[in-house]
Amino acid sequence: MPLPRRWYQRVREAELTAREPVFRRVAVIGLGLIGGSLASAMRKYRLAGTVVGFDRKAEDAALGVELGVIDEAAESVEQAVQGSDLIVLAVPVRATRAVLEQVQPFLAEDALLTDVGSTKSSFVADVEAVFGTLPATVIPGHPIAGSEKSGIRAANPELFAHHKVILTPADSAIPSGVSRLTALWEGTGATVLTMSVAYHDEVLAATSHLPHLIAFSLVDTLAGEDENMDIFRYAAGGFRDFTRIAASDPVMWHDIFLSNRDAVLRVIDHFTQDLDQLRSAIAAGDGATLLRVFSRAKAAREHFSKMLSGQAYVTNNSDKQVTFLMQPGGSVRGDIRVPGDKSMSHRSIMLGALAEGITEVKGFLEGEDSLATLQAFRDMGVTIEGPEDGFVRIHGVGMNGLQAPRGPLYLGNSGTAMRLFAGLLAAQPFDSELSGDTSLSKRPMGRVADPLRAMGAVIDTAEGGRPPLKIRGGQHLTGIHYDMPVASAQVKSCLLLAGLYAEGVTSVTEPAPTRDHTERMLQGFGYHVHRDGATASVTGGGKLTGGAIDVPADISSAAFFLVAASIAPDSDLTLRHVGMNPTRVGVINILRQMGADIEVLEERVIGGEPVADLRVRSASLKGIDIPEDQVPLAIDEFPVLFIAAACAEGRTVLRGAEELRVKESDRIQVMADGLAALGVETTVTPDGIIIDGGQTIGGGTVESHEDHRISMSFAVASLRANGPIRINDCANVATSFPGFVELAKQTGIQISTEGVQ
Ligand code: S3P
Repeated sequence: MPLPRRWYQRVREAELTAREPVFRRVAVIGLGLIGGSLASAMRKYRLAGTVVGFDRKAEDAALGVELGVIDEAAESVEQAVQGSDLIVLAVPVRATRAVLEQVQPFLAEDALLTDVGSTKSSFVADVEAVFGTLPATVIPGHPIAGSEKSGIRAANPELFAHHKVILTPADSAIPSGVSRLTALWEGTGATVLTMSVAYHDEVLAATSHLPHLIAFSLVDTLAGEDENMDIFRYAAGGFRDFTRIAASDPVMWHDIFLSNRDAVLRVIDHFTQDLDQLRSAIAAGDGATLLRVFSRAKAAREHFSKMLSGQAYVTNNSDKQVTFLMQPGGSVRGDIRVPGDKSMSHRSIMLGALAEGITEVKGFLEGEDSLATLQAFRDMGVTIEGPEDGFVRIHGVGMNGLQAPRGPLYLGNSGTAMRLFAGLLAAQPFDSELSGDTSLSKRPMGRVADPLRAMGAVIDTAEGGRPPLKIRGGQHLTGIHYDMPVASAQVKSCLLLAGLYAEGVTSVTEPAPTRDHTERMLQGFGYHVHRDGATASVTGGGKLTGGAIDVPADISSAAFFLVAASIAPDSDLTLRHVGMNPTRVGVINILRQMGADIEVLEERVIGGEPVADLRVRSASLKGIDIPEDQVPLAIDEFPVLFIAAACAEGRTVLRGAEELRVKESDRIQVMADGLAALGVETTVTPDGIIIDGGQTIGGGTVESHEDHRISMSFAVASLRANGPIRINDCANVATSFPGFVELAKQTGIQISTEGVQ
């Protein structure tokens, strides 16, 4: 449970009041809402030795002293500026130049000057006009906080807490100035971002200025309608929410629009075009367009804060700190269903989007990896409703219906998304760029880029074949035969997807069987996949037809509980509706060979995929030589199988698994390091590991290297540890297993979390 905000607030107050002020004497020129709020925050959190205020209206400055917003009221700009080491201009944008002229003669050489205005190019132009240049001590700023209220009476020291402040320092700005100003704003509880002046003005034109313009205009239009009394009397919550900002200060906004003219005009044109498109859709009864735009907007709104900072909608978990705190011991009991299969969830969106007609998906994994795929298709113009409780409805656009995305497609942590997308996008008429988080950015993409190039694709990668991938559109692809050097379902799927668009036959031979969800699902969508032993092939130019997909529970997520219930004494757990595709059941084969007690119940086939319920009870496991043919069939389950091996009697040897070194982390080394941190010695080999079971698992701190499966594996290890385990960097568990912590708790694993999620 994240700690309540009140708690953070108290800690922050205690920390801040205990430290040295950042500035000795700060002059705030202009005591409106923003100037007054900054002044009172500086006083409350002791960010300045003395806060002096000046306002054109002397009575406001006097009121400032009375209300405790400032320490002293200055009678003139000169009096405020002299002796101050920071001057904050908080005046209307259009008054800036005149005020700067008054400030300039009294500004000490080493004093910093900043502002809080909504447009930055105009501020810089005013400074240059008055000073002849932009001095290194002038650092423009803009807090993204406000209220429709104005004036010093509305001053609020908490106005900036949990808000963003943008600084736009020039390259020549003094670094110590930037860091002191950053410290000041952070002291008010804000998060500070830096960007260029031009970028700031573009971003703000879109995210703040345009909405204000629309609110003013809408209220004005409606107020002019004949029945305006009734309109306002019956105005529902939507109208009230939407137009709240039309009560903002007209003078200030008139200043802003005139000062940020060019950027605002660009975004108004863009908006007018899009509004016209909606108008035409309504006129033509074109519900599909309305649904597409609305569901894309709904998704965007749900990821609002990320959009504002210019990131993709997908969560970047590196920004979050989640630690698992495990208490030792316990047994695992109950009857659970783990979330939907990740591989199938990705593929259901991809094929559903390219199909003709509607595809309805049940059991979709609402984890961040598959959500990244879903969002990427929305960004390419596909209407996708949901997800809601695992239900998604995809309005297929047909094989040639994707539209060029407006920017790079951000795929978070997902190797599957990046490799399968590469195949699909290589054949589209438009250019595209694929990027991902830190872990994904280190993973090899040459394995898909090389064979795609052989088909005629044009793809650039970063050094060493790493992401981002830049894919040139409009290429003619020709089918090839490819003998895969590694057993990889992602490479196979990538080439088969490219093959749907290629001329002739594309065939792929795998050195060992790998998961075949792409082949099965293509068949389900009516696209023939030819199988001849280890070779799968497709002929380009066909079409897909939408239908229903029932995604079973992910056996890779179930694996943590299969091991947990096997190693913990007195355990008895049933896992429902688990996908039992023969290319995925390596974990069950291996565990059974180690002596696990796993019963397979109610075997059935649902939507072309075998499914079963699994009952697992405690067992004494023994070490084995893991058969190499099982490696691709259990490729994602080795981290937790290593925990099973550590709890088994005797030696477990894994060979032929070098692929584990290029997963979300080097899973051989990272597991060996984690086990060592708990006192379990192992021998790492280039393609595997040797684990002597029966050693005592101690308490300690484990680094997960932001790898979800490493985090969950050590959570399972706690069941047999003799001390508490702390597992760092667990936020990525949400990529594959949302709700892991709650489900683990429910079955008896003693887990709690620390940090902000
Ligand atoms: C996956 C294939 C496997 C697996 C990954 C999902 C897929 O990767 O590790 O988690 O959905 O095709 P490789 O194809 O690289 O082995």
